[in-house]
Amino acid sequence: MFTLAHLSDPHLAPLPTPRFSELLSKRLFGFLNWQKKRRDIHLFGTLEKLIADIKQQSPDHIAVTGDLINIALPDEYPIARLWLNNLGAPHDVTLVAGNHDAYIKKMEGEPLREWGAYMCGDEQTQAAFPFVRKRGPVAIVGLSTAVASRPGRATGRLGAEQLTHLPGILKKLGEEGTFRIVSLHHPPESEPHRHSERLIDGKAFVAAIAESGADLVIHGHEHIHSVAWIDGAGRRVPVVGVPSASAAPRGGKWQPAGYNLYRIEGGPGAWRCEMASWSMNRDGETYEIGRRMLMRTKIKTRN
Ligand SMILES: [Fe+2]
Repeated sequence: MFTLAHLSDPHLAPLPTPRFSELLSKRLFGFLNWQKKRRDIHLFGTLEKLIADIKQQSPDHIAVTGDLINIALPDEYPIARLWLNNLGAPHDVTLVAGNHDAYIKKMEGEPLREWGAYMCGDEQTQAAFPFVRKRGPVAIVGLSTAVASRPGRATGRLGAEQLTHLPGILKKLGEEGTFRIVSLHHPPESEPHRHSERLIDGKAFVAAIAESGADLVIHGHEHIHSVAWIDGAGRRVPVVGVPSASAAPRGGKWQPAGYNLYRIEGGPGAWRCEMASWSMNRDGETYEIGRRMLMRTKIKTRN
């Protein structure tokens, strides 16, 4: 059995003190939002407890689906690199970046520069998207949706290049018999009230999965436990989101910190994938909130 832990959106706190000149951009809105609201939601102590719990489960691999930082201050990137190093070695942790990691245009390249080792495919010497990492029976396909957007927006974009390469990669991995996990920050489809936070080319992504198939899609961004389903070459593909890994366990309307564990076993034509979802109670203790079978392929037997 292969176990994958999935966490997202740690939004590392505390926020470094910005220089005045660094706030002459969209960062100003993000900084005010942090001071007014987000600094009470994203707590480093909560994140540490959650990570300790994940490590106790001894997963074979950890996937992090972006938004390590908040407003793309230059000082946030090296802090997040240290955090990643503490989480695990690049071989054992796979990252994709989120919109907060590329908050303003001039910092869009920074996630790759600082955290590239965690986004580098098996056959690449430099991080590039899509990347493929094979671990045990699993292939993780990492996509980037991290682009800067206007103030008040948190949209993502895959772009033509990733969308062109994705179907071929998924088809090849399917022929090789791997369990295909696609990892991206934004959910492919959003509710209408989340229009300003959507994946702009989500429809093209959904079409690519419908054409080529995948076994599991994981994402962050919405800061809630969620499961949706999309078509995938003749079968349904689960699309799973998790809460922010640092969300305070007691407080306002947000969901407390949580993560998922996916237990994957079987083989081509007979995969089994069970998801266990974990959350944090008001006392800051983690507990399993439920289990769900995402895939159970019946093995055909001859009479
Ligand atoms: Fe986020």
